[in-house]
Amino acid sequence: MKAKTLLLAMVAFLITNAHTMAQNDDKRVLVAYFSATGTTARAAEKLAGITGGECYAITPAQPYTDADLDWHDKRSRSSVEMSDPKSRPALAGKKLDAAGYAVIFIGYPIWWDLAPRVINTFIENHDLKGKTIVPFATSGGSGIDHSVKSLKAEYPELNWGEGKLLNNLGEASIRRWTDRIAAGEK
Ligand SMILES: Cc1cc2nc3c(=O)[nH]c(=O)nc-3n(C[C@H](O)[C@H](O)[C@H](O)COP(=O)(O)O)c2cc1C
Repeated sequence: MKAKTLLLAMVAFLITNAHTMAQNDDKRVLVAYFSATGTTARAAEKLAGITGGECYAITPAQPYTDADLDWHDKRSRSSVEMSDPKSRPALAGKKLDAAGYAVIFIGYPIWWDLAPRVINTFIENHDLKGKTIVPFATSGGSGIDHSVKSLKAEYPELNWGEGKLLNNLGEASIRRWTDRIAAGEK
């Protein structure tokens, strides 16, 4: 009789907690991104749809105007920031609680073959140790490799996953890449 009651209690516990456990599991993937003109945001949403992850917009305290983004102008805000490796544009918005995530994708537009400096601000403002950090980017044609190499050199203590340029990449290719990352996680 006692055993039967214990069994019933265990079944009841599993039923009431199954939903919570599934939710915790869903929270394992985060797609954090910065996008100045919307392209990387669209790639991030696609990636979140494929991975079942949550999206988080990395938001600069001061938004970038068209003049700020003018790479022909050496004195534009983006030119000034990108020519200074120590530049750390401030962030706006609610600070992310990174604790619940095992995999964090970090997306950005390629600027001068690098990640925008606001990505450095984001990395340095959050405790990302022990997580798999996976860069992705969009660009006008440049690859992602140089920016990834630079991030790895700046933050060697982080566990970096294989980065990917998502320019016009189809769902099947994205899925093959995210599956490789998930396999490495196990
Ligand atoms: C300041 C600045 C620098 C850029 N530098 C590069 C570059 O070095 N190589 C490249 O292929 N595209 C470059 N681009 C183009 C962007 O990477 C591309 O348009 C990107 O998809 C924009 O993403 P977003 O809409 O999410 O901001 C640059 C754009 C800006 C504004």
